[in-house]
Amino acid sequence: MASLKQIRSTFLDYFAADGHEKVHSAPLVPQNDPTLLFVNAGMVPFKDYFTGASTPPYPRATSSQKCVRAGGKHNDLDNVGYTARHLTFFEMLGNFSFGDYFKEHAIDRAWNLVTKDFGLDPNRLLVTVYIDDDEAFDIWKKVTGFPDSKIIRIAGSDNFWAMGDSGPCGPCTEIFWDYGDHIPGGPPGSPDEDGDRFVEIWNNVFMQFEKENDEIVRSLPKPSVDTGMGLERMTSVLQGKNSVFDTDLFRTLIAASEDATSTRADGEKAPSHRVIADHLRSSSFLIADGVTPSNEGRGYVLRRIMRRAMRHAHLLGATDPLMHRLVPTLVNEMGEAYPELKRAQPFIEDTLKQEEIRFRTTLGRGMTLFDQATVGFEPGAMLDGQTAFTLYDTYGFPLDLTQDEARRRGFGVNVDGFEAAMEEQRGRSREHWKGSGQTANAGEWLALRDRLGPTEFTGYDAVEGVGEVLAIVHGGQSVDAVETGQTAEVVFDRTPFYGEGGGQAGDKGEIEWTDATGQTGSGTVLDVQKNAGDLFAHKVEVTSGTLAISARVQLRVDAQARLTTRSNHSAAHLLHAALKNVLGPHVAQKGQLVDAERMRFDFSHNAPVTEDELARMEDEVNAVIRQNIPAETKMMAPQEAIEAGAVALFGEKYGDEVRVLTLGSALGGDGAYSIELCGGTHVARTGDIALFKIVSESGIAAGVRRIEAFTGEAARQYLLTQANIAKKLAQGFKVQPGDVPARVDALSGSVKALEKQVADLKKQLALGGGSGGNAAPEEIGGVKLIARVLDGVDGKGLRGVAEDFRKQVGSGVVALIGVTEGKAAVTVAVTSDIVGKVNAADLARAAVLAMGGQGAGGKPDFAQGGAPDGGKAEDGLAAVRAALAG
Ligand code: ALA
Repeated sequence: MASLKQIRSTFLDYFAADGHEKVHSAPLVPQNDPTLLFVNAGMVPFKDYFTGASTPPYPRATSSQKCVRAGGKHNDLDNVGYTARHLTFFEMLGNFSFGDYFKEHAIDRAWNLVTKDFGLDPNRLLVTVYIDDDEAFDIWKKVTGFPDSKIIRIAGSDNFWAMGDSGPCGPCTEIFWDYGDHIPGGPPGSPDEDGDRFVEIWNNVFMQFEKENDEIVRSLPKPSVDTGMGLERMTSVLQGKNSVFDTDLFRTLIAASEDATSTRADGEKAPSHRVIADHLRSSSFLIADGVTPSNEGRGYVLRRIMRRAMRHAHLLGATDPLMHRLVPTLVNEMGEAYPELKRAQPFIEDTLKQEEIRFRTTLGRGMTLFDQATVGFEPGAMLDGQTAFTLYDTYGFPLDLTQDEARRRGFGVNVDGFEAAMEEQRGRSREHWKGSGQTANAGEWLALRDRLGPTEFTGYDAVEGVGEVLAIVHGGQSVDAVETGQTAEVVFDRTPFYGEGGGQAGDKGEIEWTDATGQTGSGTVLDVQKNAGDLFAHKVEVTSGTLAISARVQLRVDAQARLTTRSNHSAAHLLHAALKNVLGPHVAQKGQLVDAERMRFDFSHNAPVTEDELARMEDEVNAVIRQNIPAETKMMAPQEAIEAGAVALFGEKYGDEVRVLTLGSALGGDGAYSIELCGGTHVARTGDIALFKIVSESGIAAGVRRIEAFTGEAARQYLLTQANIAKKLAQGFKVQPGDVPARVDALSGSVKALEKQVADLKKQLALGGGSGGNAAPEEIGGVKLIARVLDGVDGKGLRGVAEDFRKQVGSGVVALIGVTEGKAAVTVAVTSDIVGKVNAADLARAAVLAMGGQGAGGKPDFAQGGAPDGGKAEDGLAAVRAALAG
């Protein structure tokens, strides 16, 4: 029986032998499409090759692409565990032709692989084509010899595949496997096609068109082929299993979860084990690709997946965090095909563990609330939206987790009510998700981009240049001109101004022009953003004259600000490398901000960075600065760059060619110190950074840390300020700066000693006779009493004094009232020989009540209390005397 691993490599080797380039899976976070939550099909990384937006380096490719279908438009999360086939994470095997072969070759190769190499019985296969695709119909007939009844024509979206509302699309043809008539279900196109009997195992999309807003707007330059073969499904067919969860890989994962929970995956426990196995895969792969759990965007989808699994672990009776203990099994099964999983293993384990510890603090109480809210529920009853919201908001239960629990018990959840309660938070997260820099008038910008093409950026080598005004957008609309005092977004044909991107702020500067009539004008560039991808929108405030379309404008970037920005950006790359060297390879960049003032770098790491680690990183970066080696930039194909060891950043758009920046040489090793893909502006030599100083390190979200640092003159100023503080301290202490720490230690030592002396003196003073008490014990009702009012002694101090008096009196009662800041503290101690006769708590209570307080607490031999009015201290002692007198 072929294992999942063998099926994967059979597929890839088969197409490699047919001239296809083997391409490693792209990360789950789409690198070329900010609108997509996760990569959800094998073709996504190749999208631009299909549309013609960039030229493929090879005409054919084959890949095993990691896919996640959760949270976005394709969301399978709710079904996982309860069906035979739904998964949140799966591998899509594909063979792709970028304008090379088309229908005939695609069908022929697919059929050959499925029936020969995989050896599936043609009698149990049937195929579908798009309703009017006669060409595909005829090819299938020739290749398979099938009767017409086994080549089913299907209308509608089932056989017309589109990546989304926009993007490449085309008719498809699919291969189905018949599990046999012991399983309910009908062939595709029949009324009961949704049953489990006939299962799609192969989809060939003939990419021919491009859609915009769900309308076909053009034919693609070259018809292409996109294939999707779900590896897990094909494995279940080849291993003779009706459920993906019964295949070898999943059996191994489920066995690990059975062992770890000492339960068996049967009966009502089976769905929980399936959920754990699937969610372990999606969570681990997402974390390996740099996603960390959070409350928004991709991070929240990850959190939902993780918590759903953790809830099921809890259901299986796991009392300690479970998920992280299953990671070694997963890495063992899949780490060879996906080395990124192996590399990130410690980080995955830690992230899962921390999240499970966190969730467990509220899970139990949330379940209690759920139980209370559903007492007496009959099947079909609905949990109210407000409770679902409280579970979400207070107990960290994502809605789908609550729904999952309700479904397990046969209930529903009032989602409308939940949504209503959530409206505000939802609005915020939507805003955040949209935040890709596109303004509300994105349509206008897309139209401009189509008409004008990309802006040429000349600023890598220059900070000045001449540009022609191609467009002016004011108030969201294109206009012909703007006047003095107005602010608009202006597009030039070329510009030295950097547009915000990759965490580097847009440039600021000045512009000047002379129009056709000889009138001059000027403006200030406040910011530059890249709209519609690569159209540089300069936010210009016109300070004199009129700025109109076609004007030729002198563009001048603020050169000083650019210099410091470059230095901060290059230092961020060096810090990134230092973080990986010092903290470990799991460190992934989570964000950065570099501008003319400073550098801020966010990264994934689960613990505060120690002083020692910070110092080592700072040392490394400064050592590379002192190497003063020229920075090198090269244009390369993305794959070449990644093979050269370049660090690719998540969420960046990489075209046919990427800029690769190399800084410094490895400390004590071969090669470069830092290699990264980056479109930003950088120093000419590392020495230009001059100096690097970390000024803060903090946590900004679970598992995400932030370092802020200065470079160059700003770093020098910072150190100067610190040195001045040290100098002032030294002057104040009258020592050399280097001796300040020892002096501070000595001083705080003597302050402590003095404090102790003061306390001892107060005590001695109290024992020697305080104000108002008798020097010798008095005697009341045959009991000796020492009663004192002690000024300036608080409750804690009284305890020690009372002990000393108790020893002194031998047999009797000590009643003390300390007065501090106008308030009274009462302490009564009774020697053990008379405890049966006299109760300290009763006496203390009498004193407190006499002074307007509420009461006292303690034991029969020792009690304390407090009262608001220290001025009545004598009344308190009088009450004690009265009580003793009986
Ligand atoms: N892109 C096609 C799919 O996802 C092959 O099914």
